[in-house]
Amino acid sequence: MKTAVLISGRGSNLQALIGAGIDIVLVISNVPDARGLGRAKKAGIATAVIDHKDFDDRETFDQAMTKAIEDAGAELVCLAGFMRILSDDFIKHWWDRLINIHPSLLPDFKGLDVHQRVIDARANQSGCTVHFVRPEMDSGPIIMQATVPVMANDDAGALAARILVQEHIIYPKAVKLIAEGRVSVEDDKALIDGSPAV
Ligand code: GAR
Repeated sequence: MKTAVLISGRGSNLQALIGAGIDIVLVISNVPDARGLGRAKKAGIATAVIDHKDFDDRETFDQAMTKAIEDAGAELVCLAGFMRILSDDFIKHWWDRLINIHPSLLPDFKGLDVHQRVIDARANQSGCTVHFVRPEMDSGPIIMQATVPVMANDDAGALAARILVQEHIIYPKAVKLIAEGRVSVEDDKALIDGSPAV
């Protein structure tokens, strides 16, 4: 399944998808010097910089991304550390074909600064979630989650690193399941091989 990956930064999840042999036809970054762009180029994958600062509004920025994704022939769009809110129109256009990875056990700890908030809340576990994207931020049918313990002496960096290891495992797994046609959505819940995904 031809896949586009949207990034804003480091691109370690992109690297995991590349390493897993996902058929990535385009990597888009909204940040011109995102480190992930170099990873894509090294792997011989087409890249595009679509800088939100070059657009008057979110809608025209999103339309430019949709055009680039469609021109590349991608059928699935993966957000991998893409740090822009997407317009409802973009999300509707790519409904059930747009997925995200978030570094918490959704629906807990949506948004930014996740790891410090998990530590401050004295949660004893955290993790990561792959989900279909819906207009409400960090919501949508959950395809896969992985759990890690929160250690007593964790700082945000240590917890983020422990979770990132799991992100690199579950994101490629989830994309492969979708590419194999094994993931469906019913009543806004994800199913794998017809059974509840989580
Ligand atoms: C990852 O931890 C990802 O879950 C998170 O940003 C990081 C990107 O790292 N995404 C979000 O917080 C989205 N709201 P990467 O660029 O190395 O893949």
